[in-house]
Amino acid sequence: MLDQLKNKVVEEISQAKDLNKLEEVFRTYLGRKGELTKVLRSLKDMSAKERKKKGQLANQIKNELDQLIEDKKKGLGSDLKPKEWIDVTAPGTKVSRGYLHPLTLVQREIEEIFQSMGFSVLDGPEVETAYYNFDALNVPKDHPARDMWDTFWLKGLDLLLRTHTSPMQARYMEKNNPPLRVIVPGRCFRHEATDATHGFQFYQFEGLMVGEDVSAANFKAIIEEFFKKFFSSSDIQIRLRPSYFPFVEPGFEVDVKRGKGKWLEIMGAGMVHPNVFEASGYTKKWQGFAFGAGLERLAMIKYQIDDIRLFFSSDLRFLKQF
Ligand code: FA5
Repeated sequence: MLDQLKNKVVEEISQAKDLNKLEEVFRTYLGRKGELTKVLRSLKDMSAKERKKKGQLANQIKNELDQLIEDKKKGLGSDLKPKEWIDVTAPGTKVSRGYLHPLTLVQREIEEIFQSMGFSVLDGPEVETAYYNFDALNVPKDHPARDMWDTFWLKGLDLLLRTHTSPMQARYMEKNNPPLRVIVPGRCFRHEATDATHGFQFYQFEGLMVGEDVSAANFKAIIEEFFKKFFSSSDIQIRLRPSYFPFVEPGFEVDVKRGKGKWLEIMGAGMVHPNVFEASGYTKKWQGFAFGAGLERLAMIKYQIDDIRLFFSSDLRFLKQF
């Protein structure tokens, strides 16, 4: 009978899920009015022989159960004890700080310089229509000049990823009257093989200045002022080469060289073509210049980076240097 009782209590102790339940088990069997206590109390009414036999067993069981409950209590109780503790003398952990991407730094600097010369900063869509990317820029369908830009077309839609920031010239002039001065930084995409100076995605910033007598001389002055401020170095050489873009006449390309480095093509530019003005509804009274410059290329010269692919490599050893 005592063995049965023992097994029952052992079972209930092992089932107890919290301290309250355990307390209840203790009270039912081992407390003042508990079942086992009652057995122990009844010993005094037994014969000496019986008392000896049962008494030993009952006491042994009581001790075992007491011990079991004590152990279980420790097990349950340890869950309540805080596992964490604070060492107030320990040195603080260093919070790692984020860094601005070199292209963000360069973009902000470019925006600041042009804003100081009276230009506003605009944003434009990366997904464009063929009209703004080409037609409005004097590159009609089937014009061979479309091949100058290897284009990512969006399948089944009459849309593309803009190959340059120039579509914003047309978008802006359609809605705003001259005189105007704007720059448009943004991402462009070309279906091109990548190498140290070419990415399939890269940043450009477009510049556009229109007025009654804005000339190529103004372009040269503004762009020289920009380079002077951007590089803050006398080690920089600039050269203008005649070039062809359908949306300008005449057109040039601007190369930059730092110290004994190589010439790097930075921007295409020129005087806005009359057909572009016409598509935007401007009269012949207006003239101006436009340019489109590569942001990575400028950053490469400024920070002496020799491979454009580093900008998109997510390599922290590179990024942490800025
Ligand atoms: C154009 O994109 C013309 N829209 C520029 C322009 C604007 C001309 C306004 C006249 C008037 P081009 O394809 O040359 O031109 O690109 C201009 C600049 O973008 C280049 O000089 C170069 O700095 C940068 N660039 C072009 N392609 C890449 C490329 N794949 N990777 C990195 N930079 C590039």
